[in-house]
Amino acid sequence: MSFDFTGKTVFVMGGTSGINLGIAQGFAAAGARVAVASRSQDKVDAAVASLGQGAFGFSVDVRDAEAVAEVFAKARDQFGQPIDVLVSGAAGNFPAPAKELSSNGFKAVVDIDLQGTFNVMKGAYPHLARPGSIINISAPQAFIPMALQVHVCAAKAGVDMITRTLAMEWGPEGIRVNSLVPGPIEGTEGMARLAPGDKALAMVRESVPLKRNGSPADLANAALFLASPLADYISGVVLPVDGGWSLAGVSSAMDNLARAFATQG
Ligand code: COA
Ligand code: NAP
Repeated sequence: MSFDFTGKTVFVMGGTSGINLGIAQGFAAAGARVAVASRSQDKVDAAVASLGQGAFGFSVDVRDAEAVAEVFAKARDQFGQPIDVLVSGAAGNFPAPAKELSSNGFKAVVDIDLQGTFNVMKGAYPHLARPGSIINISAPQAFIPMALQVHVCAAKAGVDMITRTLAMEWGPEGIRVNSLVPGPIEGTEGMARLAPGDKALAMVRESVPLKRNGSPADLANAALFLASPLADYISGVVLPVDGGWSLAGVSSAMDNLARAFATQG
């Protein structure tokens, strides 16, 4: 199935690497004009180059609400039209036992993932098209507790509640808000941090009902669908894209990831 986003504008926050860059590339391949942003200007430049003609980008930290709002105003100007699709996926993660995690370490992840999601949605709001679509990138930690991930679990659970709450609040304006929940996506920074090494990756792969880890393209396909007219009546949904991985729940999926992290090989 192919999607046509010709004439549409898409902004991917955190879209300069990994899953979010894969999503940005998916929209660009479907004909959309795409903008990306993240902290590192070098990553922004490389991502923009990979997105082809008409793409542009910004260096910004999602923790800075004012700077984020300015970036969205500039993006709307540069597009010359409102933003049809907002993907919000900037995030930080590192495994850490709660007893050793500093208050600032917990805060860093909550500020990027949770407060950052609010800053991005609020900053983009005046510049969004009606109808428009917002896709927040969540994580299985939002609904499956995982050892060494107290900061991420708390932050991503909050992200999904923002999704549901603003789907209600902004729905009457024609803005749909959904979350995508990537499972274990191979070749990404997130997996490198949580399942380092081939042995760890293989353990996780074995725990996925479909017996493969995902790719950024799997998330791009889901994002294209959620932003397309085929999903016109879908809002407030938290959609796992994980080969069935999260079905196993606490008993398996996250235990396996924690064991894979301990394996480190
Ligand atoms: N274990 C324990 N604490 C850690 C840590 C780790 N591996 N990494 C960072 N921290 C703590 C720091 O010690 C600091 O706390 P302190 O002031 O009490 O010492 C706090 O977190 C903030 O660290 P800092 O390096 O200043 O944060 P930052 O804002 O520069 O970076 C991070 C944010 C820590 C999330 C960083 O890992 C990052 O930029 N990640 C983005 C990429 C990523 O995580 N990708 C995967 C997405 S799923
Ligand atoms: P990634 O490549 O590190 O992507 C994170 C992106 O966010 C980068 O572009 C990063 O660029 C940007 N970013 C980080 N902190 C930022 C900040 N403060 N302000 C602005 N941008 C910031 O990691 P990934 O593994 O692909 O993860 C992408 C998303 O998928 C995240 O939301 C993550 O929680 C989610 N997820 C991933 C997996 C997985 O298997 N990898 C599983 C479940 C969920 P800069 O460094 O330039 O800022």
